[in-house]
Amino acid sequence: MTRTARAYTNIALIKYWGKKNKQLKLPYTNSLSLTLDRFYTDTTATIINEDHDVVYLNEQLLNDSQNKRILNYLDTVRKFYSFKDHFQINSINHVPTSAGFASSASGFAALAAAINETKQLNLTRRELSILARNGSGSASRSIYGGFVEWEAGTDNESSFAVPIDEHPEIDLSLLSVVINKSTKKISSTTGMENSVKSSPFYSNWVTLVASEIEEIKQAIAQKDVQKIGEISEHNAMSMHALTLSADPSFTYFEPETIQIIQLIKEMRQKGILAYATIDAGPNVKIICTKESLPKVQTCIKQQLSNVTTVVANIGSGIQYI
Ligand code: DP6
Repeated sequence: MTRTARAYTNIALIKYWGKKNKQLKLPYTNSLSLTLDRFYTDTTATIINEDHDVVYLNEQLLNDSQNKRILNYLDTVRKFYSFKDHFQINSINHVPTSAGFASSASGFAALAAAINETKQLNLTRRELSILARNGSGSASRSIYGGFVEWEAGTDNESSFAVPIDEHPEIDLSLLSVVINKSTKKISSTTGMENSVKSSPFYSNWVTLVASEIEEIKQAIAQKDVQKIGEISEHNAMSMHALTLSADPSFTYFEPETIQIIQLIKEMRQKGILAYATIDAGPNVKIICTKESLPKVQTCIKQQLSNVTTVVANIGSGIQYI
């Protein structure tokens, strides 16, 4: 039995930042994302007659230490569905690091879907979202296309993503500005743990997310891109305030990150629609419209010579190939 699934990455407009259950990856808050069309992972799962799993990433055989997270995940899947089979996993990431997106969302969503097909588990998309969440929280949202909300829930069965609008007709594009830095970054898993533990503002974050989720859902229903941008930028800055207020404090920002945030503000003063969102890294993703995108791209390129830009649009959910 061998099957291949494709999952696209997503960008959170209302961020997931903090777990109340580390093992099950149960978040403190709901989060809301947009699935993108350009960056995806294709994963093939084959049942093998062995007592261990074999994992290839981008055609390279991974050793056990590189592999730990995936091997643990496969153990979890076996336990959930009470079977003993082992797999050969071949995963190809079409999420180049040069695009500035993390691949864990598309990676674990594609892996969950490939196992679902190979083992003929016949999971619903809700069950698939739960399974993907156990690999990486943000992967729960990559099961669906378009705008997606991950409902925090209270246990394994109640924490899953739901589609808000899978094929929205909305004039929204995303420009990813990649800052070429090789500083060692703090993983999102560690970053959120430190923020929950030591930021005095963490409880405010939980309250803020609850209200911003409602506001952004209204803005999505009204196809109000400016409002979506305003809320997303405020939410991202609030998430990064949790890192700065942690003890010890840390930040994902580099000097260029701040420079781009300032440029975006200047562009807005000139009437150009542009809003920033930033994940657990220095790269800035800019929410634009078709009209503003080329202006934003030109301005960024003129002001910063050492950055790469990548355009993404709205993408779809899990596909079987
Ligand atoms: C800033 O999903 O990578 O991108 O569940 O520990 O694997 P784990 O974390 P991960 O965190 C994503 C954090 C974020 C915000 C978001 O995507 O919601």
